[in-house]
Amino acid sequence: MSTPLLRQAYSAELFQEEGTTLIKLLSQHLENHISEKSDTVINWSTPNDELRFWEQYATERHTTEEFFGTVLKRSIATHNPKYIGHQISPTVPVSSLATLLSATLNNGMAVYEMGAAATAIEKVVVNVFTKAIGYGKNADGFLTSGGTLANLTALIAARKAIANDDVWNDGYANKLAILVSEEAHYCVDRAARIMGLGDAGIIKVPVNEHFKIEVNKLDLAYKLAIDKGFEVIAVVGSAPSTSSGMHDNLESLAAFAKQNNIWFHVDGAHGGAAIFSKKYKHLLKGIEQADSIAIDGHKMMATSSITTALLFKRSNDTYTTFSQKAHYLWDKNDDLEWYNLAKRTFECTKSMMSIRFFSIINAFGTQFFDDYVTTLYDLGKTFAGIIELNPEFDLAMQPETNIVCFRFTGNLRTDEIDSINQSIRRQLLEDGEFYIVSTYLKGQFYLRVTIMNVFTTESHFHSLLNKIISIKNHSIINV
Ligand SMILES: Cc1ncc(COP(=O)(O)O)c(C=O)c1O
Repeated sequence: MSTPLLRQAYSAELFQEEGTTLIKLLSQHLENHISEKSDTVINWSTPNDELRFWEQYATERHTTEEFFGTVLKRSIATHNPKYIGHQISPTVPVSSLATLLSATLNNGMAVYEMGAAATAIEKVVVNVFTKAIGYGKNADGFLTSGGTLANLTALIAARKAIANDDVWNDGYANKLAILVSEEAHYCVDRAARIMGLGDAGIIKVPVNEHFKIEVNKLDLAYKLAIDKGFEVIAVVGSAPSTSSGMHDNLESLAAFAKQNNIWFHVDGAHGGAAIFSKKYKHLLKGIEQADSIAIDGHKMMATSSITTALLFKRSNDTYTTFSQKAHYLWDKNDDLEWYNLAKRTFECTKSMMSIRFFSIINAFGTQFFDDYVTTLYDLGKTFAGIIELNPEFDLAMQPETNIVCFRFTGNLRTDEIDSINQSIRRQLLEDGEFYIVSTYLKGQFYLRVTIMNVFTTESHFHSLLNKIISIKNHSIINV
């Protein structure tokens, strides 16, 4: 028997009322940030202050409107053109609405019946990706929860396809290894450790002066691994790597993988979306030779998180990765049923990610992804040009993407450049007008931006550099 409280909680009338209010709040939020009526990207508070605020808040009752409004005010605004920090997109509104649809319907997606529309749409979306990649007719794939999970899934598929032993069923008999650039995202290292490869099984290949994997060091690294008794199962290319935004030479990696009969995986979590960009697709030359490719929607395709496509050159590899009995979900374990997705994904329940992609394709076509990636990569070049013309700053490298690394050098001594730039980054965070991040390149500290917002302009870049100079000149930087 439902209670009055339960009936109130599920009231359609209340949903409409609160939903209308939320959409109004979010529309104002978008308008305020995109048109810069709001000049703050982040209202900085320390983790402990924020916790104290919410602990106190939890002791009081608030309207839902008040609660949503407070979350909005106290969250970083990725839609502000001065948000140029980590790689997460300001969501395109139609895709946010699709997320609301998914969140409300809550279709489980593990088996066809638990998400008929979104399951079929997932196949349509996967085909859009495989076609843009240039894969053949046998290609396939699925959507999964994030680049981290996609990379892990791809490496498990590689192990299944390449390793001599059936590790899935029998455990490890041999030592396995993968080859990956020292600049690859940490999740590749984490995936290999989860798979039990250990430190020695993750062979980090050095990068050249352009932060691309040294292809001519691959043969030696491979040979050394074999001499030490490892069975090398895969080489992973970064497209691009996270810190520097530079792409590994995918064609060379493909040739190397072919020559040694190992799996070639491309971590295109950030830049894989450039398959849709006529201008920048060349950065991914060779990607169509990869055995598997991960591409995040919530990075360079403007969907809400967490939405990732994992594409495979051969359909069969999508079925053999995980093989498990689950009689409460499906009758025949060995059947290749494209529509029972949990047979192929790490997740059992997953969100209806396909509608986040499809809502964009339906409204604007894949041209949206071309416009989005091309605009942002162009902006990376624009910012780099502005930095180069300013003698107070040092550009780490010519960017290939929307990731740009630079630092203030002014007339600083070499030994104070790192600490002063660390202090600049900290003060920018506390100030809140801009949000930028940082990284280390070859052991040196750099400020780092990822231009994620298509409304960021040259004038924002000039303002950012001026702000950095004024922070340096007018505040007491404790070094
Ligand atoms: C190259 C690369 N791979 C993987 C990831 C992890 O992706 P996710 O955050 O979707 O798990 C990132 C995140 O920044 C990345 O830049």
